[in-house]
Amino acid sequence: MSGGKTAVVTGGASGIGEATVMRFADAGWNIVIGDINADRAATVAEPARAAGATSVTVLPLDLADAASVTDFAAGTYDRHGRVDVVVNSGGILQNGIRFNDMPVEEFDAVWTVNVRGTLLINQAFGRRMTKAGTGSIINMCSLTTYRASPQPAYAPAKVALKSMTETMAAEFGASGVRVNAVAPGYTLTPAMQARIDAGQRDPQAILDKSAIKRLVQPADVAEAIFFLCSDAASAITGVVLPVDCGWLARSAYTSYASQPD
Ligand SMILES: NC(=O)c1ccc[n+]([C@@H]2O[C@H](COP(=O)([O-])OP(=O)(O)OC[C@H]3O[C@@H](n4cnc5c(N)ncnc54)[C@H](O)[C@@H]3O)[C@@H](O)[C@H]2O)c1
Repeated sequence: MSGGKTAVVTGGASGIGEATVMRFADAGWNIVIGDINADRAATVAEPARAAGATSVTVLPLDLADAASVTDFAAGTYDRHGRVDVVVNSGGILQNGIRFNDMPVEEFDAVWTVNVRGTLLINQAFGRRMTKAGTGSIINMCSLTTYRASPQPAYAPAKVALKSMTETMAAEFGASGVRVNAVAPGYTLTPAMQARIDAGQRDPQAILDKSAIKRLVQPADVAEAIFFLCSDAASAITGVVLPVDCGWLARSAYTSYASQPD
């Protein structure tokens, strides 16, 4: 068992999760990465150690499998007596599809990982963290938490995660555990880059609707997560923090019926 603070990052092998691993590594934490892609997770561990992590452990995790989540939590607590932070970044995206055309299997796949998987992680760690009386949990919402989107499985799932965040915050607060979420805008992760390359997301359309004329970088989201988990945010729980280069504000502004010259 190692000393120091411990952060668990699901989906830590890529994208926002990977950037979050590197942010906590910079601060010298113990890190546990859980991801279905074990090979890629292993490639993140080495730079995280080099960046200053006290320890980095990669454990297998399939968020779609309740037994795997149970084993992952048990394996984490075997190595570290306590967990200070859990970041739920494991998840899958969805391409645009008309509501009437979506196969229910697509809905099930997205909800199984993004909602049920997050719930299972939050129960497995939440039970132990509330008993220990300390810690911070981050859920992964999205712009679709706030705005309609042609993603009839993904978007309602991200609304559900806002509700889950609020329920957990209300219940866990008295024990000393805070629960918040981030809502990243279009973030240049491997998953997003692949969709841009395949013509499924138009980067110019994103920039046109963003107040700050750039895409969100994974490190931007990691910084917000690190802040929400820090003592500087000790009075903050139950919120969803957009990290979106002002897309929510600008997309609404530009939709208004009269635009000033
Ligand atoms: N990229 C964006 O623009 C964006 C915007 C808003 C929200 N998000 C959310 O951020 C989170 C991370 O997305 P990303 O863009 O970094 O994607 P990503 O694909 O780069 O990373 C996701 C990670 O989750 C892992 N994962 C997938 N299914 C899993 C499972 N069943 N069990 C364990 N691990 C699994 C993947 O292997 C991968 O390492 C997702 O919840 C996504 O919805 C992303």
